[in-house]
Amino acid sequence: MQKNILITGASSGIGKAVALEFAKKDGAKNHLILVARNQEKLEKVAAEIKQLGVEVTTILADLGKKTDIAELFTKIEKQCSTLDLVFNNAGLGFVKPAIDLTDDEVEQIIDVNIKGMTLVGKKAAAIMVKQGHGHIIFTSSLAGYVLLPTWSVYCASKWAITAFANVLRQEVASAGVKITTVHPGPVQTEFFDPNKANVDLSASEKTMPAIPSEEVAKAVYEVAYTDTKRIFNPPKLAMFAEAFRLFPNMMQKMMSKLVKE
Ligand SMILES: NC(=O)c1ccc[n+]([C@@H]2O[C@H](COP(=O)([O-])OP(=O)(O)OC[C@H]3O[C@@H](n4cnc5c(N)ncnc54)[C@H](OP(=O)(O)O)[C@@H]3O)[C@@H](O)[C@H]2O)c1
Repeated sequence: MQKNILITGASSGIGKAVALEFAKKDGAKNHLILVARNQEKLEKVAAEIKQLGVEVTTILADLGKKTDIAELFTKIEKQCSTLDLVFNNAGLGFVKPAIDLTDDEVEQIIDVNIKGMTLVGKKAAAIMVKQGHGHIIFTSSLAGYVLLPTWSVYCASKWAITAFANVLRQEVASAGVKITTVHPGPVQTEFFDPNKANVDLSASEKTMPAIPSEEVAKAVYEVAYTDTKRIFNPPKLAMFAEAFRLFPNMMQKMMSKLVKE
């Protein structure tokens, strides 16, 4: 039977790359439900995927709004008999010292990265528990393990969603539902658009070069429907996260230096 896969933040970056990866690898085996706000960009991605012979539905939703999320799930439940995989990925960041963030920027990060991802995760999990199977993959970040100046609210949001996903995993495992968190370091996407995160990546290029979004997409495809708890992209960043867990003060000092350089 065809699998229904929901991908949020599918209009660009990692979400788009994941949608294309599933389309290229699995062809007509899946029905892809792509969600974002920008209709033009989302339809472009959908057109590319349709050309590969894959059934696609696009749904416009602002995932910072609980009403849009409720409508999204009403549509999914009407249209799909099962929800097999969710790539819970839409997110954003504004990168500057905490005292320079506008109240609106703080609210947007919290609304989309925490509230939106939590509501999507919770609603998807409820459907999956009822049907007795499913897998939710959350895009956290390396910032869901480490702390560094100018990323305060973003780090807070990714630590929060990592915690939520880890507890959700324990709650739904016995119903046959799997939960994975994905922790990329820098990825070459629109996240770093001057109008979005507003951060110059060239400073960290030597220590932590940005990887293509396709690399994350391949790793996500590999873990789909498996019991993998978490992945880092590239994988060697797992050591970095572990060092942070073991030596938080020393690592925080090191990260501060990195940001200042
Ligand atoms: N790039 C990195 O270095 C990096 C590293 C680690 C983790 N991440 C995480 O990866 C995820 C994807 O980011 P990306 O790097 O692929 O950036 P991106 O190219 O800017 O993509 C972000 C996606 O999220 C969607 N989105 C943002 N706000 C939304 C909202 N209110 N409602 C619905 N959709 C919304 C955007 O679509 P619309 O604008 O069309 O709504 C877009 O499709 C995020 O959770 C991010 O925190 C990124």
